[in-house]
Amino acid sequence: MRHLLTPLDFTTGELDDLFDLAGSIEKDRSAFSHVCSGKKLATCFYEPSTRTRLSFESAMLNLGGSVLGFADAQSSSAAKGETVADTIRVISCFADICAIRHPKEGSARVAAEFSSIPVINAGDGGHHHPTQTLTDLLTIRSLKGRLNDFTIGLCGDLKFGRTVHSLIHAMSRYDNIRFVFISPPELKVPDYITQSLNEKGIPYEEVIKLEDCLERLDLLYMTRVQKERFFNEEDYIRLRSFYILDGEKMKMAKDDMFVLHPLPRVSEIAPEVDNDRRAAYFRQVQYGVYVRMALIMTLLELA
Ligand code: NCD
Repeated sequence: MRHLLTPLDFTTGELDDLFDLAGSIEKDRSAFSHVCSGKKLATCFYEPSTRTRLSFESAMLNLGGSVLGFADAQSSSAAKGETVADTIRVISCFADICAIRHPKEGSARVAAEFSSIPVINAGDGGHHHPTQTLTDLLTIRSLKGRLNDFTIGLCGDLKFGRTVHSLIHAMSRYDNIRFVFISPPELKVPDYITQSLNEKGIPYEEVIKLEDCLERLDLLYMTRVQKERFFNEEDYIRLRSFYILDGEKMKMAKDDMFVLHPLPRVSEIAPEVDNDRRAAYFRQVQYGVYVRMALIMTLLELA
């Protein structure tokens, strides 16, 4: 039985197969509309979510399966003190596959240890968010036709942003990738990540201003400041509007530079950018459904 806990759990070859399957789904969704009939997906969300949970549910429904779960820790037995280990043992009796989101780093791994069904990490604290990364990679592959040979800028909360951490890990496996980390000094990418890039000899630079690198980027991954992971409200208020990508700044970027964002957006991208054909963040949401359909099929061994 396989789980998806970190973006490195699949080899790049396996990811190619997954993205090819997502591509086939995109071309002819109706051909997959009964693949999971009789199967159930449980979504166990101990943290707020719109996209990820509904994207999973939509994916399973598109495959002809059914969904059950909870969207709020307060409405689950966690409120009575139940552990993740016990909850997943119980969920294993109700469903065939489970997507779990939890505020604690490592919680999905604990769930997988005690589970008798495949577990998908839908975000564990500030650690990883592998299915967002699958979404990001499929989006990049679809827009650019490749996953190598890019200068990619990641901008915003690089300290707490789990989507950033997962994307850096995943992109590090492709050839000729150069990272530009754009953040205020307080929200720099964690040392364990830069150390691992140093060990692998992968080039990166750290800058504070978007204007210092925009014209060199092939891809720009914007993120919001992660309010819920701040210890102090004052710091959050000071940093939340540090970056605003607007129409004026987009003039500095290459014609074929795409802007991605895992969403939700707060104020880091001005709405006027939405009409720019390089704004790819809403298309990204659609790719998220295709890739989750492909993932559910793969983990249930129905691919
Ligand atoms: C991200 C998350 O939950 O980490 N959202 C998502 O799943 N699309 C990004 C975020 O909340 O900022």
